[in-house]
Amino acid sequence: MSVIIAPSLLSANFADLRGDIEMLNDSEADWLHVDVMDGVFVPNISFGFPIMETLKKISYKPLDVHLMIVDPDRYISRFKEAGANILNVHYEACTHLHRTVQQIKKEGMKAAVTLNPHTPISLLEDIIGDVDMVLLMSVNPGFAAQKYIENTYNKVSQLKELILRKNAACLIEVDGGVNLQNGKKLKELGADALVAGNSIFATDDPKDTIAQFKAL
Ligand code: DX5
Ligand code: ZN
Repeated sequence: MSVIIAPSLLSANFADLRGDIEMLNDSEADWLHVDVMDGVFVPNISFGFPIMETLKKISYKPLDVHLMIVDPDRYISRFKEAGANILNVHYEACTHLHRTVQQIKKEGMKAAVTLNPHTPISLLEDIIGDVDMVLLMSVNPGFAAQKYIENTYNKVSQLKELILRKNAACLIEVDGGVNLQNGKKLKELGADALVAGNSIFATDDPKDTIAQFKAL
């Protein structure tokens, strides 16, 4: 089966967002990855609800929303209203993660938990059965076009093992510095979905690059 591919909007051309969204609509991309940063959880600020609501009007692709914000519980219903289909919250930002996950599902969205590069897979033991997806960060979150952290391969293998052992119905997504080379290996190790920003939008023919990801 081909890998789910989620181009990251952060690397799109904001001066011509419609052009890039139309290109993605017309591509083999499965989801649109939307990075929301608050300048507190991560050292950068991206965009919020007005942009998301605009996207929702013009994108045919489901929105895979990655919240890099503190206290995401405060905004779960707002992100549902803004059009999120999948809501990723960081393990490191949620004190009552079980409650947060239930709340996201109650709102009718897929619930995903994101791990920073330093956060071990073993911490997911008691939540893995409740989540629809785990998003493994392969860079420290905050910026596009960073270098892929090699240890992510080990984390994908460990997560795959945990999912099989617990018989969980949970997808594995990887985000940060993903390209066609490491993407192939990540898929072989068990990744179901890949986020890619720079390695798609910095190419001459992003639509063709997406097709190459789909053919991995
Ligand atoms: C990083 C973001 C990523 C990033 C991916 O904080 O969560 O989604 O935009 O971009 P690339 O693929 O360029 O690393
Ligand atoms: Zn992301």
